Amino acid sequence: MSPELRFDGRVVIITGAGGGLGRAHALLFARRGAHIVVNDLGAGRDGTGRSSDAARAVVDEIRALGGSAIDNGDSIEDGEQIVAAGQQAFGRVEVVINNAGIRRDASFGKMTDADWDRVYRVHVQGAFKVTRAAWEPMRQQGFGRVIFTASAAGLYGNFGQANYAMAKAALTGLGRTLVVQGARKNVHVNVIAPVAGSRMTATVLPPEVTAALLPEHGSPLVAWLCHESCAENGGMFEVGGGFFAKVRHERSAGLVADAAAPASPELVRDRFAAVVDFGPDATHPDDIGAAAGPLLANLVAGAER
Ligand SMILES: NC(=O)c1ccc[n+]([C@@H]2O[C@H](COP(=O)([O-])OP(=O)(O)OC[C@H]3O[C@@H](n4cnc5c(N)ncnc54)[C@H](O)[C@@H]3O)[C@@H](O)[C@H]2O)c1
Repeated sequence: MSPELRFDGRVVIITGAGGGLGRAHALLFARRGAHIVVNDLGAGRDGTGRSSDAARAVVDEIRALGGSAIDNGDSIEDGEQIVAAGQQAFGRVEVVINNAGIRRDASFGKMTDADWDRVYRVHVQGAFKVTRAAWEPMRQQGFGRVIFTASAAGLYGNFGQANYAMAKAALTGLGRTLVVQGARKNVHVNVIAPVAGSRMTATVLPPEVTAALLPEHGSPLVAWLCHESCAENGGMFEVGGGFFAKVRHERSAGLVADAAAPASPELVRDRFAAVVDFGPDATHPDDIGAAAGPLLANLVAGAER
Protein backbone atom coordinates (compact mmCIF):
# COMPACT_ATOMS: atom_id res chain seq x y z
CA MET A 1 0.00 0.00 0.00
CA SER A 2 1.19 3.55 -0.73
CA PRO A 3 2.40 5.80 2.11
CA GLU A 4 0.06 6.76 4.94
CA LEU A 5 -2.18 9.78 4.30
CA ARG A 6 -0.88 12.49 6.65
CA PHE A 7 -2.34 15.81 7.73
CA ASP A 8 0.71 17.20 9.52
CA GLY A 9 0.16 20.83 10.44
CA ARG A 10 -3.24 21.05 8.73
CA VAL A 11 -5.87 22.97 10.68
CA VAL A 12 -9.17 21.12 10.75
CA ILE A 13 -12.45 22.37 12.21
CA ILE A 14 -14.92 19.64 13.06
CA THR A 15 -18.32 20.78 14.27
CA GLY A 16 -20.32 18.65 16.67
CA ALA A 17 -17.15 16.71 17.47
CA GLY A 18 -17.98 16.03 21.11
CA GLY A 19 -19.35 12.58 20.27
CA GLY A 20 -20.47 10.21 17.53
CA LEU A 21 -19.15 10.76 14.03
CA GLY A 22 -17.47 14.09 14.77
CA ARG A 23 -15.38 12.64 17.59
CA ALA A 24 -14.31 9.75 15.35
CA HIS A 25 -13.24 12.19 12.62
CA ALA A 26 -11.36 14.31 15.16
CA LEU A 27 -9.38 11.38 16.54
CA LEU A 28 -8.42 10.13 13.08
CA PHE A 29 -7.22 13.53 11.84
CA ALA A 30 -5.39 14.19 15.12
CA ARG A 31 -3.60 10.82 14.96
CA ARG A 32 -2.38 11.82 11.51
CA GLY A 33 -0.87 15.11 12.56
CA ALA A 34 -3.62 17.73 12.16
CA HIS A 35 -4.44 20.53 14.60
CA ILE A 36 -8.11 20.11 15.50
CA VAL A 37 -10.75 22.60 16.55
CA VAL A 38 -13.15 20.36 18.43
CA ASN A 39 -16.40 22.28 18.31
CA ASP A 40 -19.46 21.12 20.21
CA LEU A 41 -22.29 22.99 21.82
CA GLY A 42 -22.88 20.05 24.13
CA ALA A 43 -26.57 20.14 23.32
CA GLY A 44 -29.10 17.37 23.75
CA ARG A 45 -30.19 15.31 20.75
CA ASP A 46 -32.97 17.84 20.10
CA GLY A 47 -30.61 20.82 20.30
CA THR A 48 -31.63 21.98 23.77
CA GLY A 49 -29.14 22.60 26.58
CA ARG A 50 -25.48 23.42 26.48
CA SER A 51 -22.25 22.12 28.00
CA SER A 52 -18.57 22.49 27.23
CA ASP A 53 -17.78 19.04 28.68
CA ALA A 54 -18.17 17.03 25.46
CA ALA A 55 -15.70 19.07 23.39
CA ARG A 56 -13.24 19.27 26.27
CA ALA A 57 -13.29 15.50 26.80
CA VAL A 58 -12.40 14.89 23.15
CA VAL A 59 -9.57 17.43 23.37
CA ASP A 60 -8.28 15.54 26.42
CA GLU A 61 -8.38 12.30 24.41
CA ILE A 62 -6.46 13.90 21.55
CA ARG A 63 -3.83 15.37 23.85
CA ALA A 64 -3.43 12.02 25.59
CA LEU A 65 -2.53 10.59 22.18
CA GLY A 66 0.07 13.33 21.76
CA GLY A 67 -2.12 15.28 19.34
CA SER A 68 -2.96 18.96 19.06
CA ALA A 69 -6.46 20.34 19.64
CA ILE A 70 -8.50 23.12 21.17
CA ASP A 71 -12.08 22.93 22.32
CA ASN A 72 -14.78 25.34 21.26
CA GLY A 73 -18.26 25.47 22.72
CA ASP A 74 -19.94 27.92 20.34
CA SER A 75 -23.07 27.05 18.44
CA ILE A 76 -22.46 26.63 14.74
CA GLU A 77 -25.09 29.33 14.34
CA ASP A 78 -22.22 31.60 15.43
CA GLY A 79 -19.87 30.01 12.92
CA GLU A 80 -17.60 33.06 12.62
CA GLN A 81 -16.48 32.56 16.21
CA ILE A 82 -15.50 28.95 15.57
CA VAL A 83 -13.41 29.86 12.55
CA ALA A 84 -11.86 32.78 14.46
CA ALA A 85 -10.92 30.41 17.29
CA GLY A 86 -9.10 28.15 14.81
CA GLN A 87 -7.31 31.08 13.20
CA GLN A 88 -6.30 32.48 16.55
CA ALA A 89 -4.97 29.18 17.88
CA PHE A 90 -3.32 27.81 14.75
CA GLY A 91 -3.00 30.73 12.32
CA ARG A 92 -5.33 29.46 9.58
CA VAL A 93 -8.14 27.04 8.74
CA GLU A 94 -7.78 24.52 5.92
CA VAL A 95 -10.46 21.90 6.43
CA VAL A 96 -14.05 22.39 7.58
CA ILE A 97 -16.08 19.32 8.43
CA ASN A 98 -19.69 20.36 8.94
CA ASN A 99 -20.96 17.60 11.15
CA ALA A 100 -23.00 19.06 14.03
CA GLY A 101 -26.65 18.19 13.93
CA ILE A 102 -29.86 17.61 15.83
CA ARG A 103 -33.09 15.70 15.31
CA ARG A 104 -36.59 16.85 16.13
CA ASP A 105 -38.75 14.20 14.47
CA ALA A 106 -42.52 14.45 14.22
CA SER A 107 -45.12 13.25 11.73
CA PHE A 108 -45.69 16.03 9.23
CA GLY A 109 -49.14 17.12 10.39
CA LYS A 110 -47.82 17.46 13.94
CA MET A 111 -44.60 19.22 13.13
CA THR A 112 -44.38 22.56 14.93
CA ASP A 113 -42.87 25.75 13.59
CA ALA A 114 -40.22 25.44 16.30
CA ASP A 115 -39.24 21.91 15.18
CA TRP A 116 -38.97 23.07 11.58
CA ASP A 117 -37.04 26.28 12.34
CA ARG A 118 -34.64 24.82 14.86
CA VAL A 119 -33.57 22.00 12.55
CA TYR A 120 -33.15 24.48 9.69
CA ARG A 121 -31.14 26.88 11.85
CA VAL A 122 -28.72 24.29 13.14
CA HIS A 123 -28.13 22.21 10.01
CA VAL A 124 -28.44 24.75 7.23
CA GLN A 125 -27.74 28.13 8.74
CA GLY A 126 -25.06 26.69 11.02
CA ALA A 127 -23.18 24.98 8.17
CA PHE A 128 -23.58 28.16 6.10
CA LYS A 129 -22.11 30.35 8.86
CA VAL A 130 -19.10 28.15 9.57
CA THR A 131 -18.30 27.53 5.92
CA ARG A 132 -18.76 31.15 4.84
CA ALA A 133 -16.38 32.37 7.53
CA ALA A 134 -13.67 29.97 6.33
CA TRP A 135 -14.42 30.34 2.60
CA GLU A 136 -12.45 33.43 1.48
CA PRO A 137 -9.40 32.57 3.60
CA MET A 138 -9.39 29.10 2.03
CA ARG A 139 -9.69 30.55 -1.47
CA GLN A 140 -6.94 33.07 -0.78
CA GLN A 141 -4.53 30.45 0.54
CA GLY A 142 -5.26 28.26 -2.49
CA PHE A 143 -6.26 25.22 -0.47
CA GLY A 144 -9.38 24.14 1.31
CA ARG A 145 -11.51 21.08 1.86
CA VAL A 146 -15.13 21.19 3.01
CA ILE A 147 -17.44 18.36 3.98
CA PHE A 148 -21.17 18.69 4.45
CA THR A 149 -22.87 15.94 6.39
CA ALA A 150 -26.17 15.14 4.75
CA SER A 151 -28.30 12.06 5.28
CA ALA A 152 -30.12 9.25 3.52
CA ALA A 153 -33.27 10.96 4.78
CA GLY A 154 -32.44 13.95 2.57
CA LEU A 155 -31.70 11.74 -0.43
CA TYR A 156 -34.55 9.28 -0.15
CA GLY A 157 -36.98 10.70 2.43
CA ASN A 158 -37.86 9.16 5.79
CA PHE A 159 -41.00 9.00 7.90
CA GLY A 160 -41.23 11.67 10.58
CA GLN A 161 -38.23 13.60 9.30
CA ALA A 162 -39.66 16.29 7.03
CA ASN A 163 -37.61 19.00 8.77
CA TYR A 164 -34.43 16.93 8.93
CA ALA A 165 -34.74 15.74 5.31
CA MET A 166 -35.37 19.33 4.18
CA ALA A 167 -32.24 20.52 5.95
CA LYS A 168 -30.05 17.67 4.75
CA ALA A 169 -31.22 18.08 1.14
CA ALA A 170 -30.42 21.81 1.43
CA LEU A 171 -26.84 20.90 2.32
CA THR A 172 -26.44 18.83 -0.85
CA GLY A 173 -27.63 21.82 -2.92
CA LEU A 174 -25.31 24.15 -1.03
CA GLY A 175 -22.40 21.76 -1.53
CA ARG A 176 -23.00 21.42 -5.28
CA THR A 177 -23.05 25.17 -5.68
CA LEU A 178 -19.88 25.82 -3.71
CA VAL A 179 -18.08 23.28 -5.89
CA VAL A 180 -18.44 25.66 -8.80
CA GLN A 181 -17.09 28.58 -6.77
CA GLY A 182 -14.16 26.85 -5.11
CA ALA A 183 -12.69 24.61 -7.81
CA ARG A 184 -10.30 27.13 -9.39
CA LYS A 185 -8.80 27.91 -5.98
CA ASN A 186 -8.27 24.29 -4.97
CA VAL A 187 -11.16 24.41 -2.50
CA HIS A 188 -13.06 21.15 -2.82
CA VAL A 189 -16.50 20.43 -1.40
CA ASN A 190 -17.98 16.97 -0.92
CA VAL A 191 -21.10 15.67 0.76
CA ILE A 192 -21.48 12.53 2.84
CA ALA A 193 -24.61 10.73 3.96
CA PRO A 194 -23.38 8.58 6.85
CA VAL A 195 -25.01 5.84 8.87
CA ALA A 196 -23.58 5.27 12.33
CA GLY A 197 -24.51 4.08 15.76
CA SER A 198 -24.61 7.21 17.89
CA ARG A 199 -26.89 8.83 20.40
CA MET A 200 -28.72 10.26 17.37
CA THR A 201 -29.66 6.81 16.08
CA ALA A 202 -29.87 5.02 19.43
CA THR A 203 -33.62 5.63 19.62
CA VAL A 204 -34.38 4.33 16.12
CA LEU A 205 -31.99 1.41 15.59
CA PRO A 206 -31.87 -1.86 17.57
CA PRO A 207 -29.07 -1.81 20.20
CA GLU A 208 -27.03 -4.52 18.45
CA VAL A 209 -27.11 -2.55 15.17
CA THR A 210 -26.18 0.67 16.98
CA ALA A 211 -23.24 -1.12 18.59
CA ALA A 212 -22.04 -2.63 15.29
CA LEU A 213 -22.29 0.57 13.25
CA LEU A 214 -19.17 2.19 14.63
CA PRO A 215 -18.91 5.94 13.87
CA GLU A 216 -15.25 5.24 13.03
CA HIS A 217 -16.43 3.58 9.80
CA GLY A 218 -17.34 7.01 8.43
CA SER A 219 -14.03 8.75 9.05
CA PRO A 220 -11.68 7.16 6.48
CA LEU A 221 -13.77 8.49 3.59
CA VAL A 222 -13.88 11.95 5.17
CA ALA A 223 -10.11 11.86 5.63
CA TRP A 224 -9.45 10.88 2.04
CA LEU A 225 -11.84 13.52 0.65
CA CYS A 226 -10.04 16.16 2.74
CA HIS A 227 -6.51 15.19 1.76
CA GLU A 228 -4.49 17.50 -0.48
CA SER A 229 -3.90 14.65 -2.94
CA CYS A 230 -7.61 13.91 -3.42
CA ALA A 231 -9.07 15.44 -6.60
CA GLU A 232 -12.67 14.50 -5.83
CA ASN A 233 -14.90 17.57 -5.86
CA GLY A 234 -18.68 17.72 -5.79
CA GLY A 235 -19.19 14.09 -4.87
CA MET A 236 -22.04 12.74 -2.83
CA PHE A 237 -21.30 9.59 -0.86
CA GLU A 238 -23.08 7.08 1.33
CA VAL A 239 -20.86 5.65 4.03
CA GLY A 240 -21.28 3.41 7.06
CA GLY A 241 -20.57 -0.05 8.40
CA GLY A 242 -17.73 -0.56 5.93
CA PHE A 243 -19.86 0.40 2.90
CA PHE A 244 -18.61 3.26 0.71
CA ALA A 245 -20.56 4.36 -2.37
CA LYS A 246 -21.02 7.38 -4.58
CA VAL A 247 -24.49 8.63 -5.47
CA ARG A 248 -25.40 10.52 -8.65
CA HIS A 249 -28.44 11.74 -10.49
CA GLU A 250 -29.85 9.69 -13.32
CA ARG A 251 -32.10 11.28 -15.90
CA SER A 252 -34.23 9.53 -18.51
CA ALA A 253 -33.62 10.38 -22.15
CA GLY A 254 -37.06 11.91 -21.79
CA LEU A 255 -39.86 13.04 -24.03
CA VAL A 256 -38.77 15.71 -26.50
CA ALA A 257 -41.83 17.55 -27.79
CA ASP A 258 -42.20 20.46 -30.17
CA ALA A 259 -40.86 23.59 -28.43
CA ALA A 260 -42.79 26.01 -30.60
CA ALA A 261 -45.95 25.68 -28.48
CA PRO A 262 -46.68 24.04 -25.08
CA ALA A 263 -47.67 20.36 -25.31
CA SER A 264 -51.15 19.26 -24.27
CA PRO A 265 -51.69 17.25 -21.06
CA GLU A 266 -52.94 14.41 -23.32
CA LEU A 267 -49.63 14.31 -25.17
CA VAL A 268 -47.81 14.03 -21.83
CA ARG A 269 -50.22 11.26 -20.77
CA ASP A 270 -49.89 9.34 -24.02
CA ARG A 271 -46.11 9.51 -24.10
CA PHE A 272 -45.46 9.41 -20.34
CA ALA A 273 -43.62 6.11 -20.75
CA ALA A 274 -40.82 8.03 -22.48
CA VAL A 275 -40.63 10.52 -19.61
CA VAL A 276 -40.10 7.83 -16.99
CA ASP A 277 -38.06 5.29 -18.97
CA PHE A 278 -34.51 4.89 -17.66
CA GLY A 279 -33.47 2.94 -20.72
CA PRO A 280 -29.99 2.74 -22.21
CA ASP A 281 -30.15 6.40 -23.19
CA ALA A 282 -30.46 7.69 -19.61
CA THR A 283 -27.76 10.22 -18.70
CA HIS A 284 -26.03 11.41 -15.54
CA PRO A 285 -25.67 15.19 -15.84
CA ASP A 286 -22.87 16.39 -13.62
CA ASP A 287 -23.49 20.12 -13.68
CA ILE A 288 -26.18 22.59 -14.60
CA GLY A 289 -24.77 23.16 -18.08
CA ALA A 290 -24.96 19.47 -18.92
CA ALA A 291 -28.42 19.32 -17.36
CA ALA A 292 -29.71 22.13 -19.59
CA GLY A 293 -28.28 20.55 -22.78
CA PRO A 294 -31.31 18.66 -24.18
CA LEU A 295 -33.71 21.50 -23.42
CA LEU A 296 -31.52 24.05 -25.20
CA ALA A 297 -30.93 21.69 -28.14
CA ASN A 298 -34.69 21.29 -28.53
CA LEU A 299 -35.20 25.05 -28.52
CA VAL A 300 -32.50 25.49 -31.15
CA ALA A 301 -33.93 22.67 -33.29
CA GLY A 302 -37.38 24.25 -33.00
CA ALA A 303 -36.06 27.64 -34.05
CA GLU A 304 -34.33 26.15 -37.09
CA ARG A 305 -37.44 24.34 -38.30
N1 LIG B 1 -25.73 8.63 12.99
C1 LIG B 1 -26.30 8.48 11.80
O1 LIG B 1 -26.70 7.37 11.39
C2 LIG B 1 -26.47 9.65 10.90
C3 LIG B 1 -27.17 9.46 9.71
C4 LIG B 1 -27.28 10.51 8.84
C5 LIG B 1 -26.73 11.73 9.16
N2 LIG B 1 -26.08 11.90 10.34
C6 LIG B 1 -25.52 13.21 10.64
O2 LIG B 1 -24.20 13.08 11.11
C7 LIG B 1 -23.90 14.15 12.00
C8 LIG B 1 -23.34 13.62 13.31
O3 LIG B 1 -24.35 12.88 13.95
P1 LIG B 1 -24.08 11.78 15.08
O4 LIG B 1 -24.85 10.59 14.66
O5 LIG B 1 -22.64 11.64 15.35
O6 LIG B 1 -24.88 12.43 16.29
P2 LIG B 1 -24.43 13.06 17.70
O7 LIG B 1 -25.68 13.55 18.32
O8 LIG B 1 -23.57 12.11 18.43
O9 LIG B 1 -23.51 14.28 17.27
C9 LIG B 1 -23.98 15.54 16.93
C10 LIG B 1 -23.24 16.57 17.76
O10 LIG B 1 -23.59 17.87 17.31
C11 LIG B 1 -23.62 18.71 18.45
N3 LIG B 1 -24.43 19.89 18.19
C12 LIG B 1 -25.77 19.97 18.08
N4 LIG B 1 -26.15 21.23 17.83
C13 LIG B 1 -25.01 21.98 17.76
C14 LIG B 1 -24.76 23.35 17.51
N5 LIG B 1 -25.75 24.21 17.28
N6 LIG B 1 -23.47 23.77 17.50
C15 LIG B 1 -22.46 22.91 17.74
N7 LIG B 1 -22.65 21.59 17.99
C16 LIG B 1 -23.92 21.13 18.00
C17 LIG B 1 -24.19 17.84 19.54
O11 LIG B 1 -23.88 18.36 20.83
C18 LIG B 1 -23.57 16.49 19.24
O12 LIG B 1 -22.39 16.26 19.98
C19 LIG B 1 -25.21 14.95 12.16
O13 LIG B 1 -25.21 16.04 11.26
C20 LIG B 1 -26.26 13.95 11.73
O14 LIG B 1 -27.43 14.58 11.27
C21 LIG B 1 -25.94 10.89 11.23
